[in-house]
Amino acid sequence: PPLSSLINLEDFERAFETSGSQKAWAYTSGASNDLLTLEANKSYWQKLWFRPRVMKNVAKVNTKTKMMGCEVPMPVWICPMGIAKTAGPEGETALGAGAAASGIVHCVSTVASYPVEDILSSAPDNPFFFQLYVDKQRHKSEALLRKLEGLEQVKALMITCDLAVVSKREADERIRTQEVTSVYMTGAKSGIDKKGAGVARSTGSFIDSTFSWDDLAWVRKHTKLPIMLKGIQSVEDAKTALAMGCAGIVVSNHGGRALDSAPATILVLLELRRDCPEVFEKMEVFVDGGVRRGSDILKAFCLGAKGVGVGRPFQCAVSYGREGVEHAAGILQDELETAMRLCGVTSLEEVRGDMSFLNTAELD
Ligand code: FNR
Repeated sequence: PPLSSLINLEDFERAFETSGSQKAWAYTSGASNDLLTLEANKSYWQKLWFRPRVMKNVAKVNTKTKMMGCEVPMPVWICPMGIAKTAGPEGETALGAGAAASGIVHCVSTVASYPVEDILSSAPDNPFFFQLYVDKQRHKSEALLRKLEGLEQVKALMITCDLAVVSKREADERIRTQEVTSVYMTGAKSGIDKKGAGVARSTGSFIDSTFSWDDLAWVRKHTKLPIMLKGIQSVEDAKTALAMGCAGIVVSNHGGRALDSAPATILVLLELRRDCPEVFEKMEVFVDGGVRRGSDILKAFCLGAKGVGVGRPFQCAVSYGREGVEHAAGILQDELETAMRLCGVTSLEEVRGDMSFLNTAELD
């Protein structure tokens, strides 16, 4: 379908389902085991209702804010997603350029299909985040961190913590072809084995499952970038991240692609608010998983988040190149502004952490 006919983020997924190869769709849309967490992420956003205020002057709304020290027109980043070339030849360069054109941030994956320098130069004036998977061969991670030090556009390091081992993604395992691999894995073995043909499993075989809290000191020795931990799912771990001086956390379950039956990310945010509200004051708390509407971004702010990540719809948008990515971000911007106006809110700071704008009856 023509790009102009796509009017919400779900449309991008439906379009890619028919236009992409079966393998690319299985890799992109898939999640672990029974897809319980994948579905919960999305459906829990729909269990939160607004408590709108009316009769306010909402002619002007402002979605500007700051994330990890970056001034952003809208608090959204494109989640790190491996090998975006599976969705279209421009791959991550479309994500970078499309993000910049619409004023959001792209977080580059360790397992991107283009070298990080090429992705950054697709949007030379935009800030980026970089996602780190720690390698069993630690010297490789050290070299990567050294390289990032020299790349001025990279403003934060997002360390993924929720995938100590790659999980079972059955749709992806079943289709026995391998089309691409990441630049990170050049020369490494990638392909089909007795477990099946999972793209993620073969591209993620380098991930170090010994990586633990004590190793944060090692990361720090090799970078000055502020550190966000991606994949925090409990109060205990949020407290540890805070105690260890992390600048931020991303409440995430890898979009349901790690532990199946991990809780919907909204449930974790609510747990943090209830049991450890100071994490929101002392650290930047972010969330991803199932965010598909501008109104979800507003809900995240009411819960105290400083921004959200959106994954799959942007990967699917790569099939339309950078214009597709820009178009998808534009839809979110428009939906966010509309939701704010209809809630009687003119700036995001006004609602941050303010649960009086939400009705959580379905979750209590
Ligand atoms: C991912 N995700 C991911 N996360 C990460 O830290 N490093 C990575 O390389 C990848 N790769 C990846 C590939 C694809 C195709 C998807 C869909 C996801 C997880 C991603 O960053 C994010 O946490 C989720 O995608 C968010 O959920 P939604 O928005 O896709 O529902």
